[in-house]
Amino acid sequence: MIPIARPTMGEEEKELVWSALESGSLAQGTRVRELEVRFAAFIGVPHAVATSSGTTALHLALLGHGIGQGDEVITVPFTFIASATSVLYTGARPVFVDVRADDFTMDPDQLEAAITPRTRAIQPVSLYGQPADMVAIVSIAERHGLAIVEDAAQSHGAAIGPRKSGTWGAGVFSFYPTKNMTTGEGGMITTSDSDYAERVTLLREHGMKVRYHHDILGYNFRMTDIHASIGLAQLTKLPDYNARRQAIAKRYDAELRGVITPWVRPGVTHVYHQYTIRVRERDAFVERLKARGVGTGIYYPIPVHRQKPLLTLGYGDEHFPVSERLTEEVVSIPVHPSLTEQEVETVIGAVNETAAELGPMTADHAVPA
Ligand SMILES: Cc1ncc(COP(=O)(O)O)c(C=O)c1O
Repeated sequence: MIPIARPTMGEEEKELVWSALESGSLAQGTRVRELEVRFAAFIGVPHAVATSSGTTALHLALLGHGIGQGDEVITVPFTFIASATSVLYTGARPVFVDVRADDFTMDPDQLEAAITPRTRAIQPVSLYGQPADMVAIVSIAERHGLAIVEDAAQSHGAAIGPRKSGTWGAGVFSFYPTKNMTTGEGGMITTSDSDYAERVTLLREHGMKVRYHHDILGYNFRMTDIHASIGLAQLTKLPDYNARRQAIAKRYDAELRGVITPWVRPGVTHVYHQYTIRVRERDAFVERLKARGVGTGIYYPIPVHRQKPLLTLGYGDEHFPVSERLTEEVVSIPVHPSLTEQEVETVIGAVNETAAELGPMTADHAVPA
């Protein structure tokens, strides 16, 4: 079976982890700092603050803006649940805006209608490796004096023109094992605002600048030097990993038939955390790909506003038609950098044969763009 994800660990990761273990510096230390400095340089911002996960990074990024009870943060329902639960952790209310069917990201045309006097921030999601429409979203945020937290958990190295994900407002990354680069578990906040960087750094570690002198209520959201060691090796490889993902995606774009392939907005660099197609009869499609030796992933089968932890908040009756349809149509196929050419061939053959059997996905069947 060709798996949907396959983290690749080499000698570099082993050597760095082993030397961290030998050094005795296991918790947050010099390796974490080195990863922050190098990741900030890679993204193109002056500051990066490492955390224990993408989820804690989202939570921290919102706390850094002082968001809490009585506030609203606008995000999308077609995403991983942490985009919304991070808002709930602060005591604020997530408010949803639907996504566009063509690029799967927040529809800026629907944003203004969701803004209320309680809105404090917009948290768009750069899904599957394509940045959300940050230029349009930021211009609305600026008009209304709102903070931006880009959920860039899936878009390490993605860009609009020369400008990378993570350079608008606060950027939040995840280093979960299936991501374009990993630390095992880990996350990162990127920013150009030095006061904000200082605030989130303080919040990350018990509100403490001087040891055991606590200025504010803080948390332990630290990354360890062991995890940062994995990240240092992975960050060096990230440009090659992304290039390989893009090369595989190019073949899929050219050779897949009978499915809707991902659309990339002009001028955007997509880093294909996922290569997500839209198909007819998805359950049968997934079963037949499995029978042909191809693993798949459904990201995501339930829109966030319909997930159980949010139901008590009364979002269940709200309708986000594009997100709801996409949760029934999307299938992600393997695009990770360790795929061999033979495996890429197998995926292409399996998708095309399955689409031929089940009938092509056309605009008539799909949710309109
Ligand atoms: C869009 C999105 N947001 C947030 C997260 C949370 O990241 P983590 O799993 O590192 O906590 C993820 C990763 O799973 C994600 O894909």
